[in-house]
Formats: sequence, structure tokens, C-alpha cells
Amino acid sequence: MLEITGVVAGYGRGDVLHGVSLSVPEDGVSAVLGHNGAGKSTLLRTALGLLRPREGRVLLDGEDITRLPAHRRVRRGMAYVPQGQQSFPQLTAMENLRLVADGRKDGHAALAEALDLFPALRGAAGRRAGLLSGGQRQQLALARALITRPRLLLLDEPTEGIQPSVVAEIQRTVLELSGRGGLSVLLVEQHVGFALRAAGRYYVLEAGRVTSSGAGDADAEQAVRRALSV
Ligand SMILES: Nc1ncnc2c1ncn2[C@@H]1O[C@H](COP(=O)(O)OP(=O)(O)OP(=O)(O)O)[C@@H](O)[C@H]1O
Ligand SMILES: [Mg+2]
Repeated sequence: MLEITGVVAGYGRGDVLHGVSLSVPEDGVSAVLGHNGAGKSTLLRTALGLLRPREGRVLLDGEDITRLPAHRRVRRGMAYVPQGQQSFPQLTAMENLRLVADGRKDGHAALAEALDLFPALRGAAGRRAGLLSGGQRQQLALARALITRPRLLLLDEPTEGIQPSVVAEIQRTVLELSGRGGLSVLLVEQHVGFALRAAGRYYVLEAGRVTSSGAGDADAEQAVRRALSV
């Protein structure tokens, strides 16, 4: 579904990604693992079109979208949950959700479905997003993305800095969503165990290069831990 080939990208004059290639098949999870600063978030920004690569190409359904702006990629079915659970902090959880749902065909049914996935959000619907717990904010960010009914979800460290009980809930939801069919997830994660349980395929990114990749099978965890020395 998504094909990234030989991407060189960065900020200003400095390159962060030095020729990254990966492919995300239809359905299921593809995971990107790597240490802090390896370029994982930069890779997702490039996939969405927030960053324009200096070299290389991004293909969606076989079509070159390297020069397509981000909002048009969203219209094609891509959604992005950035690192750090960004919603509008002054708006309530429900207002944040409505902002996405309003005016969208089927938006309110999608909103109800998103709330079914994250029942905790119902109870917090009237609270300002900025006052929610980290776990609730992450669920809110995921719910906002899902209201657009994406075909391809770019998920940047959805369990970072979140208490363990909520981490398990978010992990369960990601697994459930990706198992339903009709949704591909490109998941950036530092929890190697979870990422590899979820992922059909993994990529290890080190200093802007893919240094190993493979199927997310029983042997993968050891290979990844060796590659990352974790
Ligand atoms: N907006 C920016 N402007 C300039 N440099 C940036 C910017 N964002 C990231 N960088 C730099 O790009 C490199 C890769 O950052 P990136 O955020 O992609 O790493 P990451 O793998 O997502 O790390 P983490 O695990 O900490 O989230 C880092 O050296 C970082 O300092
Ligand atoms: Mg990051």
C-alpha cells in the first residue's frame, strides 16, 4: 500500500534520513524500531508529506505521491497520530472529536464507534483535553484519527510515557484494529515486545538508515534486541 524508496530527508540543510526504504502492505502492522533520535518521527512526517524528501519517492497504491501535500494524503486515507498525544488542550475531549467528525460524511457514526473503542473517553468527554491523563490523551488522539476512517494509520509511539495499565489497553486496541482488515498501521514503537507481537514486518532504524528488517516472527525479537542492544 505504502512504498518508501531511497528517501533522503531532514530539516534545513541537515539530512536525518539517509536513503530509507520500506514497504507497508495492505492490512496489519509494520513496525519501525530504533533509539531516540534515529529518525523514526522524521520518517512518519515524510510518509505523511509534512516533510518533502530531497531524494527518493513515496508511493501510495503504486502511485507516486512524493509531491502530494499532506492534506491530500489524508483525503486518500492516511491518518497520523503524532508523538505526544496532540489535541487542542483548551477544548474538551468531545469538542476535539467533533472537530474531526463535523461535516464529515458518516462522521457521527464514526465518532460513536471511536468512543466504543475507548470507553474511558465517554466519561471524560466534558473535560478539557489538556487536563486528561496521558493515557486518555493518547486514546483521544487515536480516536480523532480513527474518525476519519483511515486505510493507513501512522502511529508515533502511542504508548510513550503512559502508565502500564493504559499501555495494555492501547496495545490491545491497536492489535484489534489492525486485525479487523481494511487498515494498515505503520507503528513507531520503543516497546520491542509489543511492536513485534503486533507487526507482520519490522524495520530497525539507526541514525537514519534501516539496518535490519524482517518478518515479525518468533525469531524477530532476539534479532531486534541484538541490533539495538536492548
Ligand atoms: N523540527 C526539527 N528541526 C530540526 N531538527 C529536528 C527536528 N525534528 C527532529 N530533528 C532532529 O532529527 C533527528 C531525528 O529526530 P526524530 O524526531 O525523527 O527521531 P526519533 O527517532 O523519532 O526519536 P525519539 O525516539 O526521541 O522520538 C534528531 O537529531 C533531531 O534532533
Ligand atoms: Mg520520535
